[in-house]
Amino acid sequence: MVRGNFIAGMAPLPLPSQQIHMSEQPTEHKHRPIRSFVRREGRLTRGQQRAMDELWPRYGVDTPGVDVLEPERQAMAIAPLDLGALFGRDTPNQRVLEIGFGMGQSLAEMAALLPRNDYLGIEVHRPGVGTLLRLLGEGDLHNVRVICDDAVQVLKHHLPDACLDRVQLYFPDPWHKKRHHKRRIVSPEFANLIARKLKPGGVFHLATDWQDYAKKMIAVLSSVPGFCNIAGEGEYSPRPEWRPLTKFERRGQRLGHGVWDILFERCSEE
Ligand SMILES: C[S@@+](CC[C@H](N)C(=O)[O-])C[C@H]1O[C@@H](n2cnc3c(N)ncnc32)[C@H](O)[C@@H]1O
Repeated sequence: MVRGNFIAGMAPLPLPSQQIHMSEQPTEHKHRPIRSFVRREGRLTRGQQRAMDELWPRYGVDTPGVDVLEPERQAMAIAPLDLGALFGRDTPNQRVLEIGFGMGQSLAEMAALLPRNDYLGIEVHRPGVGTLLRLLGEGDLHNVRVICDDAVQVLKHHLPDACLDRVQLYFPDPWHKKRHHKRRIVSPEFANLIARKLKPGGVFHLATDWQDYAKKMIAVLSSVPGFCNIAGEGEYSPRPEWRPLTKFERRGQRLGHGVWDILFERCSEE
């Protein structure tokens, strides 16, 4: 199982199930942060469960649930991942993080197309994780690792700064009702976090089929020092040829939705 690939010198990451004794069960925070997702998952299909059982040891990365630990235990659980050790190589062409890969078809497609890139996928939805694992196993892909957790927590607690060449956020939940906008993942805090995790020259690539969210994304990212819109101020980019259509996007296309791609580069803050 992919565990313990954390930067040397830092406290090794215990699995909560292994490390936390009955008297130390994690307690939920009284004030839970607003999440960009709701865990409403049905059962895994037999195929997804089999993929979880057989392929998680090859592709899965366990992260401790830092957010459910009491504050005094959090520091112990926080340690950055060693991505070189995780992927078994230090010099991929690009290190790419995809947040919310859904069922993972487009991520598996990209990884098969560009084997010199390393792809880390984070998704909270276990059935989606199971499906991606099955696709990775079928393709015998070596350049993908998978985390089943809240990407915001993983970014905050487990990824070193300036470690990524690209971050992909394709069709994040639009939370279209006004009272739910606070759940949208793209916020100034999130954008600053992404900027910190990108290498200089790294790219944050977003796509959405919800126009008012697209506008908000541009406004938020434009306000972050050190982010430059590759297409020019206020402009959208054409879909790069290496981005396959995603499952969610295809569904939107059938309903006649437009699609907006947005690419911001981590440039100098001057
Ligand atoms: C609308 S779906 C899009 C899925 C996929 N990118 C596609 O285009 O087909 C958004 C996905 O993001 C995931 N998600 C939302 N917030 C997340 C978070 N904080 N961390 C990880 N995944 C998240 C959801 O579980 C869901 O699968």
